[in-house]
Amino acid sequence: MNDLIIKNIKSLILPKKSDGPLKGAEMDELEIIDDAMIVVDDGKVVYAGETSDEYDASEVVDAGGRVASPALVEPHTHVVHGGSREHEMALKRQGVDYLKILEQGGGILNTVEQTRKATFDELLEKASTNITRMIQHGVLTVESKSGYGLDRENELKQLKVSKALEEKFPIVMRHTYLGPHAIPKGRNADEFMDEMIALLDEAKDYADFADVFTETGVFTVEQSRKYMEAAREKGFRVKIHADEIDPLGGLELAIEQDAVSADHLVAASEEGKKQLAESDTVAVLLPGTTFYLGKEKYADARGMIDGGGAVSLATDYNPGSCVTDNLQMIMAIAALKLKMTPNEIWNAVTVNAAHAIDAPDRGTLEVGDAADIVIWDAPNHEYIPYHYGVNHAYQVFADGRLLYE
Ligand code: NIG
Ligand code: FE
Repeated sequence: MNDLIIKNIKSLILPKKSDGPLKGAEMDELEIIDDAMIVVDDGKVVYAGETSDEYDASEVVDAGGRVASPALVEPHTHVVHGGSREHEMALKRQGVDYLKILEQGGGILNTVEQTRKATFDELLEKASTNITRMIQHGVLTVESKSGYGLDRENELKQLKVSKALEEKFPIVMRHTYLGPHAIPKGRNADEFMDEMIALLDEAKDYADFADVFTETGVFTVEQSRKYMEAAREKGFRVKIHADEIDPLGGLELAIEQDAVSADHLVAASEEGKKQLAESDTVAVLLPGTTFYLGKEKYADARGMIDGGGAVSLATDYNPGSCVTDNLQMIMAIAALKLKMTPNEIWNAVTVNAAHAIDAPDRGTLEVGDAADIVIWDAPNHEYIPYHYGVNHAYQVFADGRLLYE
């Protein structure tokens, strides 16, 4: 006798499990099983496939002819932070550029001020609202970064809040130390970078990954390399905010440093994209930032996938460059602006997202995987990126237990 059967699934979305991320043409392969069921025992998948009468369970859920998939995986967020920056919309309207706002002491540095002022409990409460919303939108695995502390006390405070979220919610998280996210006003970049490198040891108690913002006016490729090398020596795998605005060679640096992911990549070079295809680094594209910053040019997802690379998608939820915690919205932007196919999009927010944050038993529904399942109130899998701006998640099961409906 098993714990749970979810029956009467019209279309079951089954991304292919593999040791590394799906790359190139593989990203367009997605198994869809019509008239399917999922069997769960002890929080794990026992069976996911065509309807069969071989199984019994103490609880049976009727999906009512809806679509089911693995729960979504969100591989890039800044969910822990203080305050908000709605006043920046007026500056944007007047044409003030994102990096200009930062240069003037606003942007990330504004959120640093608000995060430093906030207590642990305030940060936890605020981030809990967003995590709840993510769960309601079908996400059960979340990566979360620090980077709004920029000093020992506040970077560690953010990481501890991130850890506390994982205790509080039945989700899986990955935690990322992003000390070098901006240069505090009046500080020398090299000296500040050394200070953030010195924090790696303590950050290691809380964080899985080390991340850096490599950009004009923030950190150079050389400073970022020094940081990544130090982080890898301490046992971190690295991530990078790379080539978001200017083509600095961040993608090439990511591959050189065997980064688990390289994120943004709007301005990535042709050479970098070529190298991506030869590597297991996942390109985490964040088209919600391009949308929110009002730019014309989106990341070249087609070039990356057609060239043989692995692509994932995330919200980048943060108060300054993408203010949504709805990953389904990003799926729509990817369909419209990145010209990704529905199959590529589903793989990008499940199996490839799991590889981008090293969470191998999430994002797929193979036997033995965690039974993190979403039932979608939609007629087919293409419908979810198509009907944008609303929530299609109907029921969300975490480790086989109904968490939201
Ligand atoms: O991923 N680009 C750098 N960091 C964040 C934005 C942070 C902010 O504006 O507060 C990002 O886009
Ligand atoms: Fe980010």
